[in-house]
Amino acid sequence: MRILSGIQPSGECHLGNYFGAMRQHVAMQAEGEGIFFIADYHSMTALREAGERRRLVREVAADYLACGLDPERAILYRQSDLPEVCELAWILTTVTPVGLLERSHAYKDKVANGVPVDHGLFAYPVLMAADILLHAADVVPVGQDQKQHLEMTRDIAQRFNHQYGAPVLKLPEPRILEDVAVVPGTDGRKMSKSLPNKLCMFWPEKRLRQAVMAIVTDSTPVEAPKDTGQALFQLWSLFASAAEREELFARARAGGLGYGELKKDLLARLLQYFGPMRERREEIAKRPDFLEDVLLGGARRARSLAAPVLAAVREAAGLGPGR
Ligand code: ADP
Ligand code: TRP
Repeated sequence: MRILSGIQPSGECHLGNYFGAMRQHVAMQAEGEGIFFIADYHSMTALREAGERRRLVREVAADYLACGLDPERAILYRQSDLPEVCELAWILTTVTPVGLLERSHAYKDKVANGVPVDHGLFAYPVLMAADILLHAADVVPVGQDQKQHLEMTRDIAQRFNHQYGAPVLKLPEPRILEDVAVVPGTDGRKMSKSLPNKLCMFWPEKRLRQAVMAIVTDSTPVEAPKDTGQALFQLWSLFASAAEREELFARARAGGLGYGELKKDLLARLLQYFGPMRERREEIAKRPDFLEDVLLGGARRARSLAAPVLAAVREAAGLGPGR
């Protein structure tokens, strides 16, 4: 079974990314052939600085490796090291109706918000379809927000197969990571790279402490019963067993629990949980050559998986000299 997912290089990975996606990706390595890539071509629709793109790709790749992605087992590559994906994307654009792309939620949101849209943003779902179809992926684990893109991928694959009368493109199964709870940020809203409410597991301890201590809570005094729906309790629960959670929540409801105490405990648990990953992250940061070797080695392996698919597509579409 081939499991594939793309990761936007949009900034430092935070607890929401870890519990909402990275942890599941890492766990899935054991289920089959994992293929993960950093989507730098996709990032061009939003990020326009070359140096920043190159830096962020390496940061996110290092975060994934530190979180347990094993390059001996799974493939990790940088999307632009496999430019074949652009060839397939072009081919797919010719079977993609404009109306299909106009119905994209992501596109419609941008238009509604007055963001100037270029052709790349409009064609984003086609490039994503190419990523998936190029590797004949069986399963694509993504968040709820990507569900429509996967439906489009299946639609585009069907149209190509129908147009050229050959079942050369394999329809992937989505696996929506919907059982994962949304991780709240320090201000109670959804934790997000674009908001100042992040907790990043690879920040230096001092910065993490400051951010944890700044988690917003209500102003009930220590002895008063506490509302356990607050972000602080949800964040703490990520690092506790069900029994510990029950005990703490009972204490909170009874009164006598101070937020400062809980924040200190959250920090200690967070540092312990991510301890081995933080060490690995530091080791990787000291070895930029290792990281490049992983990415380039991953691209070589990805290329050998993609070659027969692209050859079959070219053959079916009558491109090149033919067999
Ligand atoms: P961000 O929203 O911070 O920009 P992305 O959109 O790049 O993050 O998301 C990368 C992955 O992390 C997606 O699978 C997304 O569902 C998951 N994710 C992001 N933020 C959270 C969160 N606060 N809680 C749970 N999952 C999240
Ligand atoms: N669009 C995805 C996101 O924003 C990233 C992505 C690009 C992707 N290509 C993909 C995800 C292929 C899964 C499969 O998160």
